[in-house]
Formats: sequence, structure tokens, C-alpha cells
Amino acid sequence: MKILTLSQLHELIEKEIVDQKKTLEPRELYEPIWYTLENGGKRLRPILVLMGCQLFNENIELALKPALGIEMFHNFTLLHDDIMDKAFLRRNQPTVHIKWDVNRAILSGDALAIQSNVYISSTTKEVLPKVLSVFNKTALEVCEGQQYDLNFEMVDEVGEDEYLKMISLKTAVLLAGSLKIGALIGGASDQDAEKLYSFGYDMGMAFQLQDDYLDSFGDPKVFGKKIGGDILANKKTLLLIKAKQLADEGELKKLNKWFSSKKGNPAKKIKEVIGIFIKLEIDKYIRGLVHSYSKLALASLGELDIEDNLKEELTQFTNSLINRVS
Ligand code: IPE
Ligand code: IPE
Ligand code: MG
Ligand code: MG
Ligand code: MG
Repeated sequence: MKILTLSQLHELIEKEIVDQKKTLEPRELYEPIWYTLENGGKRLRPILVLMGCQLFNENIELALKPALGIEMFHNFTLLHDDIMDKAFLRRNQPTVHIKWDVNRAILSGDALAIQSNVYISSTTKEVLPKVLSVFNKTALEVCEGQQYDLNFEMVDEVGEDEYLKMISLKTAVLLAGSLKIGALIGGASDQDAEKLYSFGYDMGMAFQLQDDYLDSFGDPKVFGKKIGGDILANKKTLLLIKAKQLADEGELKKLNKWFSSKKGNPAKKIKEVIGIFIKLEIDKYIRGLVHSYSKLALASLGELDIEDNLKEELTQFTNSLINRVS
């Protein structure tokens, strides 16, 4: 069976994005959409759609438009997420609400979400109901996760389990759902599609934990987002939750002071909080957890009845995600 490598799949997505580009009016609505779609990004989710499909079907053309639809949905969530998180930098470029304004980021995001539905719906009649049902469920879960994430900014204590549930909803389900949608398009049985979902879910957990790790410990030259953004937004990430468990009295007082408001010197806040994280070896703890989730993911992969070279591709992909720097 002819299979495409990760970089070939990536290229296909890039080409599809270029091919789909249209200059439409009003330009104020469409400009931010293409700015976002053409601004790079790792294209993980559409790659997962194509990979899911190619495990069961050589004709991955079938999954190309739905894959682009998933990438559009992801970019829609980013436009709105950057407003919510007051982020001014993404993929090393100004975010849409900073480059233009909040209204344009809201409306372009809405248009992207609607367009994503059009592309995802362009799958064959036979699998359309199943694909749409996975997509709609996933999309709603992402909104639920985002709301928990925002709720947590306002409360003092968040438990480890609550945090894990929140990241599963805002992030893991979309990686899992992408694989499942691809698999269904490729003609997988419900059982196989579900196994892939489990694999994608744990991979997604590792992926968001790595994102949270990079938010404090990434290299500012390559990360593409502001280091310390989560700290300034008072996000109750596992880094903070764990640090509060391990802190001595003095450190706990400092953490509580910094996270009780969004006022104060931002650079000083980031420096002090990351200083405490390092002292308590939170970086090592989170990296350990990233590895544990990736092991869980690879165990689910092991249960799938697919060719070894396909498993190898997915293993490589997982490893590249957990060691990513941006
Ligand atoms: C960012 O996702 C949002 C998270 C779920 C962490 P990515 O890191 O996949 O963003 P891009 O598309 O590659 O920029
Ligand atoms: C993003 O989580 C999840 C969604 C956009 C659904 P983050 O807020 O951590 O993502 P980044 O760090 O801004 O990319
Ligand atoms: Mg966010
Ligand atoms: Mg964000
Ligand atoms: Mg983040």
C-alpha cells in the first residue's frame, strides 16, 4: 500500500490552502482569514485527518477538504482564543485583534467556523452523518473547555483533575476527533475509529501539557507566542497547581499574591513565578507527564490492527509532538 510521509501530507495541506484561496468581498472580513490560514502553523489536525484516512484507504483525496475544514475550525478557535487570552503574538506575528481590531477577529472567526462546516460537509453521503456528529460533538466540547479555562482564571484553587478535564475538552478531543473523522472517511469500522480516537486523545493531552510547558519554558526566539502569557492571564495550569502543592510558605505567599490579580509589573511577575517553577522542578515534572501521556497514546496505537509502517509514521508523529519547541 502506498503511503504518504508526514512531510508529503503537510505539503498536500499547504497546496490545498493555496488552491482554495479566493479574493472575496468585503475584504475586511476575508483578509484576516487568509492572514491566519497562510501564516503557517504546524497543521497537526489536518495531518491527523489525512493520516486517519490513509490507514484505511489509499485515496486520501477523499479527506482533503474535510482536513482543511478542521484546520479552519482550529484557526477560528485561535482568533477567538487570542481575544480571550489577550494575546498579541501568534506564530511570531501580531494576532488578528491586534493587527486589525476585536470586531474583525470575532467576525472573521465566525466566518471561518462556518466555512469549516462547509468543507467538512463535503465528504461522501455515506459517512456524512457520522462525520458531522463527531465534528459537532467535538466543536461543542472545545467551547466547554474554553469556558472552564476562563472560569479557572477567576478562582483561587483548581484541582489537578479539573485541569486535566479542561485540557481534554479544549484541546485533546480535537486531535482525537481529527483522527476519527479521517478514519471514518477512509471507511474504518466504528471500533477502529474509536481506537484511533483513544490514541489521539492521549496524544492531545501530551500536546496541551507541552504547550503549557513551553508557555513558561519555551525559547522566545522559536516559540512564536509570548513566554509567560499564561502567567499574566492567571491561567491555572498544572505548572501552577503543582507548584502550589510543593511550595514552602514563602513561595506560596508569593504565588498567591501574583495570581490574586492581573495588576503589577508583568515582567517581574513572569520572572518571579518562573523562578519558583524552576526551583520546584516543575519543568521536569511536566515533561515527565508529557512522556507518560505519549506512552499511553502509543499503547493504544499498539492495539490497532494496521501495517507496521503506518504505526511507525504515527509513532514518529507522536514523538515529534512531544519534543516540539513551537
Ligand atoms: C495552538 O495549537 C492551540 C493549542 C491547542 C495549544 P497549535 O500549536 O497546533 O497551533 P498552530 O496551528 O501550530 O499554530
Ligand atoms: C488553546 O489553548 C485551546 C484552544 C484555542 C481551543 P491555549 O490558549 O493554551 O492556546 P495558545 O497557547 O493560545 O495557542
Ligand atoms: Mg486559551
Ligand atoms: Mg491562548
Ligand atoms: Mg497555551
